[in-house]
Amino acid sequence: MSGVVGYIGDKNTVEVLVAGLHRIKGHDSAGVAVVNDQGVSAVKSLGKLENLEAKLAAQPVSGAVGIGHARWATHGVPNETNAHPHFDAADEIAIVHNGIIENYQELREALQQEGVTFRSQTDSETLVHLIRKYYTGDLFKAVQQALQGVKGAWALGVVCKNNPDVLVVARQGSPLVVGFGENEAFMGSDVSAIIKYTRDVVYLDHGQVCEIRCDGIKVEDLAGNAVTPEVIHVDWDDSAAEKDGFPHFMLKEIHQQPEVIRSTLRGRISDDGCSINLSDINISEEEIKACPRISIVACGTSWHAGMVGKYLIERFAKIPVELDLASEYRYRDPIVEENSIFIPVSQSGETADTMEAIRLAKSQGAKILAVVNTVGSSVARESHGVIYQQAGPEISIASTKAYTTQVTSFVLLTLWLAQIRGTMTQDQAKEMIEHLRTLPEKVQAVLENQDPIKALAGKPKYRDAQSAFFLGRDYNYPSALEGALKLKEVSYIHAEAYPGGEVKHGPIALVTNELMVVCVAPQGNIYDKMVSNIQAIKARAGLVISIATEGDDNIQAYSDDVLYIPECYEPFTPILVAIPLQLFAYYVATNRGCDVDQPRNLAKSVIVE
Ligand code: M6R
Repeated sequence: MSGVVGYIGDKNTVEVLVAGLHRIKGHDSAGVAVVNDQGVSAVKSLGKLENLEAKLAAQPVSGAVGIGHARWATHGVPNETNAHPHFDAADEIAIVHNGIIENYQELREALQQEGVTFRSQTDSETLVHLIRKYYTGDLFKAVQQALQGVKGAWALGVVCKNNPDVLVVARQGSPLVVGFGENEAFMGSDVSAIIKYTRDVVYLDHGQVCEIRCDGIKVEDLAGNAVTPEVIHVDWDDSAAEKDGFPHFMLKEIHQQPEVIRSTLRGRISDDGCSINLSDINISEEEIKACPRISIVACGTSWHAGMVGKYLIERFAKIPVELDLASEYRYRDPIVEENSIFIPVSQSGETADTMEAIRLAKSQGAKILAVVNTVGSSVARESHGVIYQQAGPEISIASTKAYTTQVTSFVLLTLWLAQIRGTMTQDQAKEMIEHLRTLPEKVQAVLENQDPIKALAGKPKYRDAQSAFFLGRDYNYPSALEGALKLKEVSYIHAEAYPGGEVKHGPIALVTNELMVVCVAPQGNIYDKMVSNIQAIKARAGLVISIATEGDDNIQAYSDDVLYIPECYEPFTPILVAIPLQLFAYYVATNRGCDVDQPRNLAKSVIVE
């Protein structure tokens, strides 16, 4: 999830581009390209935007049209070569791209066979060579034709030496907005990137290509059908625009989940929907077959995702999995069996405890296969293989989209392991994959029905609670842990999670008519047992909020309130129930006046032991 910007007009193009890039959160490198009398001039740099600004001050470039990019690496480590803009062989066409090209390997190989030399490891570079291939003087047409053979997601900006009065942009999946001024136009992956200059914007739709000139735009779909764009006036203030109109990054990131889960899945499911492709993760089939045990190690939310991973892998791939908190693993003299696989899970990829655990496991001969969000991070670099979550930068300290994409990554891994070890039939795998494909829409459905969650979080008995229990069983014990962590992090309400069956062994002594008890009870194998646990809480006057499956009216008899999720394949319920749990924590916290994006005492990356 990188960010793109573009400008055409009389202002100082580089200044406009850099101002736009400043609004894009979370990046590892940045670059700009402008069209001028010399051709297309570019400046790129690794790290913070200040590095790019320093370079631009030392080697200024100018032009009346330009594009810029802030990169969050997905393919290829962060370095200047992989930073955008990318160029064709003649250095005449430049592109910036946000998104993932699913079929880039095959496109790259085909282009290489035609004699094209690639300079970077990115999927994005494929696009510029394809555009060049179709370019005969009309940049708009070349982009349109090039994209017809491309699978994946893009917010794309293109400029060309021979078309100095044109900026071409295109969108599929990744957001892209075009803005208008007096004899000038802007482009950004986010309104916040251009709101300093304009509030009159057009949101491009999926599959549209747009030619931007100073005096107007032309929009068509990929097949060449003309589209009449609708101009919208945005009246957000500056800080709302940065958060895409949401009051906090946490809420913005909660709402990004359908999109980022799609990104996690992108390119992983075979066309026939029967198998999973993780062949790029650098662990061979032989290593998978020989593996006697998997060890999952992480901290906080990532550890909760790892617990769902354990349940999935043991159940479907039949490999024993042990799960550890990273800070415990390193001091308990763990036994690392020969040929075992060690899976660290980390959003930031910089967590000190997780890093130390990796070093220990590696020193004892384990193969390290990380689930990580941040490309080029320490965890990614230390690992033999990596599954990237593709959640994009997570700014809010309370992790939300990182969790659901970690769980989604474990679903993919489970299917892949089961496929290689032959522990699932093709029909079972196909069924699971069909359910997997429907997940983003189900997550979206929960997001669209959040009024009951908001209303619940406003009730004084919950908003002002001193203490809460979160209960769940099986796949949803980790959901309870994650729900409790979210609530305590952002609202400062004391919250504990237990497996539903464990409450009677002690914690039930704390149940009174003032204790809020959130019970995760979707339909599934363990549902009846969970209902018995809920009844035991209700019998002691606990304030029960149940999270149940739509149509389950039965549970209302034992609950003070019920929040519903759509019907869901049981192993994927942790992803779906995470959404009401996150929203409940968010709304309780905002009702209590807490600063949800910057909770007290917490840091986004915990880089100390
Ligand atoms: O970056 P990591 O995933 O390694 O971080 C692990 C934990 O520090 C993190 O999940 C933390 O618990 C979050 N604040 C949870 O919202």
